[in-house]
Amino acid sequence: MSSLRLLRSGARAIGGADALSGVHSAARRSIIDMSYSAHFMDFKGSSIPSTMRKLVVTTLSPNFREAVRAQTAAVPTPGDADLLVRNRFVGINASDINYSSGRYDPSVKPPFDAGFEGIGEVVGLGLSASSRHTVGDTVAYFGTGGAFAEYTVVPAKESVPVPAARPEFLTLPVSGATAYIALKRLGELAKGQTVLVTAAAGGTGQFAVQFAKRAGCHVIGTCSSDEKAGFLKSIGCDRPINYAAEDLAKTLRKEYPKGVDVVYESVGGGVMEVAVNSLANKGRLIVIGFISGYQSQSGIPPFRGDTLPVKLLQKSASMRGFFLPHFLSDYGEALSSMMQMFAEGKLVCEVDRGDLAPEGRFVGLESVFRAVDYMYAGKNVGKVVVEVAPPSASSSKL
Ligand SMILES: NC(=O)c1ccc[n+]([C@@H]2O[C@H](COP(=O)([O-])OP(=O)(O)OC[C@H]3O[C@@H](n4cnc5c(N)ncnc54)[C@H](OP(=O)(O)O)[C@@H]3O)[C@@H](O)[C@H]2O)c1
Repeated sequence: MSSLRLLRSGARAIGGADALSGVHSAARRSIIDMSYSAHFMDFKGSSIPSTMRKLVVTTLSPNFREAVRAQTAAVPTPGDADLLVRNRFVGINASDINYSSGRYDPSVKPPFDAGFEGIGEVVGLGLSASSRHTVGDTVAYFGTGGAFAEYTVVPAKESVPVPAARPEFLTLPVSGATAYIALKRLGELAKGQTVLVTAAAGGTGQFAVQFAKRAGCHVIGTCSSDEKAGFLKSIGCDRPINYAAEDLAKTLRKEYPKGVDVVYESVGGGVMEVAVNSLANKGRLIVIGFISGYQSQSGIPPFRGDTLPVKLLQKSASMRGFFLPHFLSDYGEALSSMMQMFAEGKLVCEVDRGDLAPEGRFVGLESVFRAVDYMYAGKNVGKVVVEVAPPSASSSKL
């Protein structure tokens, strides 16, 4: 099943709880509850609340605050092959506003649940899911929809066991995996080549920088502040370019007259035009995203592409699109490899929890709104992560 279908089905499954919107009861489920006789819903004598908070897209809009509402709903019940995860942290992605504007699947109408990825503790599960998981496991997941909630139902086969609910592990399911697989499958990186990463200090950019460096490449990274440039240096970027202080096109022309071999491109519009013009002979530009257009109605930034075929032909260069859900067969290997690198101290998984944001750290589900604003203000260094709930009292691991 593709992740897009998973996104849709997940959104529907949890969306069914909308009937209980507005219920503010703090009632707790009884531990002996026959409606859950086929499920394992209780952990070490603890109980799961009847209701929870979640973020729901109620109006299609790229303005996240306009599109999304916080609601109270029933805590969903896992199906036979599902886990019920109590979210500890959720990840913010640039595409959260593409999702809230209905660009992922125009046939899905609001209301539907927001949020792509989370990490937390399994607090309930279906009978089949219990063959691989148990209550108290810590898992990360992405792509099921509905991560922006206190509890999320996740198909067991799409969850990844992680040693602890650390926010660093949440950098890997989307941001890390995108860089790992895109560069591996489409980059054709070779030692000594030059790689340009745009939005290099962000969630996925930080990984592209590190993987290109590991492949023996010379890495250039764009960012918008000296603080980000310092971070890029610290993770091995050879030439951070703070485009707020120096002209990107001029710098590339002057310092890289032969051009760059690979571009990991996330910004689109004028930045993509500069990147195309900077390609070396046989260069590859990987289209990862075009964030500079996401806040507009169309979602697409202006791009002057009429001479693109000429430019590509003259350099035997290519542009290649990459969308993570199309590469799920590479996913398991990518995650285990990155987890191992992290465990060995060979991969920096930088997390930005909003400590320097105007209202401070992103704590509580409703700080997702602030976290999205913060990313779109270009403030983040590393992956933006929101702490939804404190560690569970029943779990000593967390
Ligand atoms: N294809 C896929 O499967 C896939 C998967 C994951 C992510 N992505 C793409 O990867 C890109 C980065 O996503 P992310 O979630 O990792 O975000 P992120 O990089 O953590 O944050 C976004 C960063 O983009 C930069 N930026 C440049 N122009 C911007 C603009 N006009 N508005 C806002 N930010 C701008 C900012 O850094 P500076 O200020 O330093 O430039 C900002 O910090 C996006 O294009 C996203 O769609 C694609």
